[in-house]
Amino acid sequence: MDSIRIRGNGPLKGSVPIAGAKNACLALMPASLLAEEPLVLDNAPRLSDIATMAVLLESLGVDVALADSGLTLSLHAADIVSQKAHYDIVRKMRASVLVLGPLLARTGSATVSLPGGCAIGARPVDLHLKGLEALGATLELKNGYIHATAARGLTGAPFTFPFVSVGATENMLLAATLARGTTVLRNAALEPEIVDLATCLRKMGANISGDGTPEIVVEGVERMHGTRHRIVADRIEMGTYMLAPAITGGDVELLGGRRDLLESVCLTLENAGVEIEDTARGLRVSRTNGRIRAVNVVTEPYPGFPTDLQAQMMALLTTADDTSVLTETIFENRFMHAQELRRMGARIDVRGGTATVTGVPYLKGAPVMATDLRASVSLILAGLAAKGETIISRVYHLDRGYERVEEKLSACGAIIDRMTG
Ligand code: EPZ
Repeated sequence: MDSIRIRGNGPLKGSVPIAGAKNACLALMPASLLAEEPLVLDNAPRLSDIATMAVLLESLGVDVALADSGLTLSLHAADIVSQKAHYDIVRKMRASVLVLGPLLARTGSATVSLPGGCAIGARPVDLHLKGLEALGATLELKNGYIHATAARGLTGAPFTFPFVSVGATENMLLAATLARGTTVLRNAALEPEIVDLATCLRKMGANISGDGTPEIVVEGVERMHGTRHRIVADRIEMGTYMLAPAITGGDVELLGGRRDLLESVCLTLENAGVEIEDTARGLRVSRTNGRIRAVNVVTEPYPGFPTDLQAQMMALLTTADDTSVLTETIFENRFMHAQELRRMGARIDVRGGTATVTGVPYLKGAPVMATDLRASVSLILAGLAAKGETIISRVYHLDRGYERVEEKLSACGAIIDRMTG
């Protein structure tokens, strides 16, 4: 198993290219199942999760071709040869459940393994199932699989999410495009990845309005066709790299960064003493004056502070000038990075969904372990600012969501390398 070794080396300076959004790509790829013509996706991130989704789609009969050294994906579902998403793939990548809606819409049946939980929580898919039932699907859970059928096709219907769910909104959006009649999704997720998916589906012939608001209306169409779509920038990767100059006191330009994708994070960072300015190529982030100011953070659905940046923000606040309180409202077990940060000298008290972080003058390098995707990168941020050497083990978590981290950070002056084996 690979490890990452970092030696704290002072302020980072330079520029970082921001890739296409992993979480948009993982919803866009299953959209290919809805058409017999190719869907071509540009600005695709080169990540292990994307490769896993490609393997799953190929097992269903989708021809997946990479071009432009993996930045362009061509997905052609001329024929669906299987409607089964096997456990051994789904357990590795929960977003596999997003093939359920489009498979049902295209073929009238789907057998998808229940994803099971993961490190950050139980992560059930009950809303996905309730929503598809509202569209007329018959669902049965047997031997760890979801057996879904819609022999006469799906029928549009109103559905209100009892609470916001990104994945369930995406599954319903995908399924409703080919349902007969009108679907109205209420309390839908507002994330930019939802808008990106709806934009691509419209280019494929879908009739969707209201995406980016709590109420999305889908008028079902007879058929969908292929298109070409450029994936939106990854706001979570962008937010992560904004924290690198923030925690090291540096000055970094994020190429392709867009403030509108992360307004809540920008405001929080500015309150903490970080300077952020728009540039012709993206966003410039710097911190040159003194210590980070303590700030409180509550994670919320978009446009609130994203849960996927909570771990990274905690790393920043470990060396703030006072005490900060982070409240995690989305997942029930998303503070596992705290115990690893404590090994580096951080003072963090976790009680339920609240972490109280008391700033210390500096962190000290130490051997630590990555426990999940975003926790792994919060340890990298801590290592960049710590005195001495940090070794992070189990970095396979990292490779799921961050492309070429060592390269991007080395280019800004970080002393970071990967040790294989
Ligand atoms: C998506 O997960 C993202 N993953 C997550 O990013 C992100 O943290 C999350 O949205 C919230 O923004 C992808 O897009 C691939 P949810 P998703 O449905 O769709 C509960 C990362 O690091 N829930 O919005 O699974 C659920 O347990 C990943 O890139 C149900 O109870 O999240 C959670 O507590 C991590 N029943 C809350 O709702 C359901 O049917 C929000 O989950 C669905 C969800």
